[in-house]
Parts: sequence; C-alpha cells; structure tokens
Amino acid sequence: MKGIILAGGKGTRLYPLTRHTNKHLLPVGPEPMIYNPVKNLVACGVREILVVTSSLHMGDIVTSLGSGEEFGADFTYKVQEEAKGIADALRLGRRFAGDESVFVLLGDNIFDTPLVRFVDNFRTEQKEQGARVMLVKVENPSDFGVAALDEKKVVEIQEKPEHPKSDYAVVGAYLYDTRVWGVIDGLKPSKRGEYEITDVNSAYIEQGALQYDFVQGMWMDTGTFESYHRANELLFGRLGKGK
Ligand code: G1P
Repeated sequence: MKGIILAGGKGTRLYPLTRHTNKHLLPVGPEPMIYNPVKNLVACGVREILVVTSSLHMGDIVTSLGSGEEFGADFTYKVQEEAKGIADALRLGRRFAGDESVFVLLGDNIFDTPLVRFVDNFRTEQKEQGARVMLVKVENPSDFGVAALDEKKVVEIQEKPEHPKSDYAVVGAYLYDTRVWGVIDGLKPSKRGEYEITDVNSAYIEQGALQYDFVQGMWMDTGTFESYHRANELLFGRLGKGK
C-alpha cells in the first residue's frame, strides 16, 4: 500500500492567510497542518508517500517536508498544474502507485488518532480490494460529501447536497484498489467544473465495492476559519498532555 497526500487547491476560504502560502503549511497546533496526514500514514505503516500540490507552493512544501527521513518516510512530489478537483489531483498518483492499493488523505483533514483500524479493516475484511471510506456524524452535512446508509452499506454519496439525506459526512481519508485509475479516467467534471472524489466513491458503490468505518476520535476539516480555529485549539490543548 502506498500513501498519497493531496495538498493542492487555492484555500480561498482561508484568505488572506493563504495568499502567500499553501493552506497545508499553516500551523495547526505546534506543527504545519500537513504533518498530521504524514504522521498518520507513517503510524499506519505506509512510508512511501506521494505529495501533490500546485507549482506555486511546491518549493515551500518541499522545504517543510524534506526527503521524508525525519518522519521515517520516503516522499515523492508531483505538481497539479490547475486546481481541477481532488480526483484530478489523485490521477497524478497512478505511476507512483503501480500495482499497489492507495491510502489517500486530504492534507487539510486532521485526525487526533492515526487511522490504523481503518487500514487493518481494509486489509483483513477486503483483502485490499474495492474501496473504503470513513464517516462521521456532523452538524453541517451540507458542507461535505454526505453518505446515505442502509443497515450494512453506503447506498449513495452526494457532494455538498442542499438537502442532505443523513448527517454522515465522508471525511478526507480513502482507501482504493487499483481500479481507481480506470474510474478516474471515466469521470466527467461536476457542475462546479471539478473532478470530484465523491464521483469516484459513487463508482465503487455502483460496483458494490465500497465499505466504510466510523471515525474513532476527533476529526476536523480545517478548510474554514471556524474549523481551522477549532483544530488549533484541539491540538494545542493536547500539548501539555503528552500527546
Ligand atoms: C472535500 C470532498 C468532500 C469531503 C471533504 C472532507 O471537500 O469533496 O466530499 O467531505 O473534502 O474534508 P472540500 O473540503 O475540499 O470542499
């Protein structure tokens, strides 16, 4: 299994903080935001990691992360020329992944506990076949991909629906087998002109190959001022507690 961290985008919801730097380099607690997904992957035993970002910020990202040695990881970097969506950024990982499955993390999703069980479940229950997503109950589902569930599985995911069918947000942590590359090839841009990760997950639902876990512990998308502030409070709060 290989790791892919998607750290592109313009971060417009955090302007002016993101005018001069990449959102994923902003501090969250005592570290740059992107350290969280890096450490998460390494804690899950995923050490070969591709980082995708824009050409504008690639230099700063490389300066911050380096070769990976400091983290016990081995980094590869790729440039996303235009912000055309998460699935478009993921497309750049095809050659890097080769014939292995991938663990994809969005660079602005912060977890306080590494996603070890999520990966273990994909390995044992699914033998690394199909796809697996993580869900969490939220108060503002319209801001996320939203999963409609029956007793056993995800029946539908809608991207930022006006009238959400549930309170379960799909967080930015995805496990995919090698079918993902064919799925991305078949995608069309959404109404907002982006290649959506939700459409990738929907293709797996159609194949009956999408499973899920609930997030254990704290999860935060730091894309807005409010959530960015909360993530900072949370990670600073942990400083004195040995975590
Ligand atoms: C993206 C995804 C969305 C997901 C969210 C998690 O949205 O498109 O499905 O729920 O990340 O953070 P974005 O925050 O990039 O708009």
